[in-house]
Amino acid sequence: MQKVELDYTLKVSLGDRSYPIYIGTSLIDDPGLIAWAFKQKKAVVVTNTTVAPLYLARFKDTLGKLGVETLSVILPDGESYKNWSTLNTIFDELLSAHCERGTVLVALGGGVIGDMGGFAAACYQRGMPFVQVPTTLLAQVDSSVGGKTAINHPLGKNMIGAFYQPNLVLADISTLKTLPLRELRAGVAEVIKYGLIRDPDFFEWTEANIERILQGDHHALAYAVQRSCANKAEVVAADEREQGEREQLNLGHTFGHAIETGMGYGEWLHGEAVASGMLIAAELSKRLGWLSDEELGRIESLLRRAGLPTTCPNLGLARYLELMRHDKKVKNGQLRFVLLRKIGKAEVTDVADEEQITSAIAARCT
Ligand code: NAD
Ligand code: GLY
Repeated sequence: MQKVELDYTLKVSLGDRSYPIYIGTSLIDDPGLIAWAFKQKKAVVVTNTTVAPLYLARFKDTLGKLGVETLSVILPDGESYKNWSTLNTIFDELLSAHCERGTVLVALGGGVIGDMGGFAAACYQRGMPFVQVPTTLLAQVDSSVGGKTAINHPLGKNMIGAFYQPNLVLADISTLKTLPLRELRAGVAEVIKYGLIRDPDFFEWTEANIERILQGDHHALAYAVQRSCANKAEVVAADEREQGEREQLNLGHTFGHAIETGMGYGEWLHGEAVASGMLIAAELSKRLGWLSDEELGRIESLLRRAGLPTTCPNLGLARYLELMRHDKKVKNGQLRFVLLRKIGKAEVTDVADEEQITSAIAARCT
């Protein structure tokens, strides 16, 4: 086991609902760091069949040192289980174990566990304390921060959920050592997203450091998590419930969610679908005269070097439009997109001309 080391502490500023993000090594073994978040001495750790054998015993042991009685709910693994039926399993366990409103729910796992655990915490007895312990790069850079929780519906991704902030995010970079490379790459898609929408220096840093990230270099990963979370924390503090600025965090998601739903949940990883969707968004931005050929080339090249898709599946253009009509940014029936004015500057816009949208998709279809 590695020595406990706290590399960064960030804060999501939301008044009396503000919370810290701790980023470092072996943080799941450090009772002192998290004691304050476990006021009630009972916790339920929600995790899955892949993560439980890797990290559940260690985290339970840490909570044990705080005198916290810990139950666990071990869910099946996969995006295809992010649904009502699995969510209900969590409620069954919470009720059977006589969990109270003050019992702490911990989500230990990737974004699927975080989104479902958070939704359960938001609903159970109308809200219980919630701690995020993200163990994928994607969850550490994005999904564990900001309070979006949800399950999927067969007609649309993340369609049923709630805004519900955690009390604490504990991002232990050393857990990424066991993450399959394909999953690490999927997390890199969201890292690239932050550079593209609002942080051009970070985009350049990612261009220069992509190999270190993919090799699992601790310092590169910790910095990527820190810089991504710092960007996300700023946006969430300014627009928690996505009335404006937060929409930019959905770059590539209008197309990406259509790919995930259209292909069947779990076929394409979320990060892969977002990567492909970001490139379609960049393509559309270029067609509107916003983005230069050179910038589009840089984005494509970085995604390729990250081992992410640079094309999209051929679902049929009509099917893409049908799926995208479920997007949460749709207003008065009008599709709206996060596009790029340049690398480092996103803007949300209507695109009334469907032909422009479908030709951008067609240009990227395999
Ligand atoms: P995931 O949760 O499915 O995790 C990916 C895989 O890695 C799973 O098989 C998981 O069991 C495994 N895993 C997790 N940690 C591991 C570890 N340390 N070692 C080995 N294997 C490990 O996928 P994800 O990419 O983490 O999250 C994707 C989900 O997050 C999607 O459902 C997406 O909609 C959601 N999301 C939510 C937000 C938000 O703001 N709430 C943002 C982005 C994505
Ligand atoms: N992943 C988009 C958001 O949190 O708003």
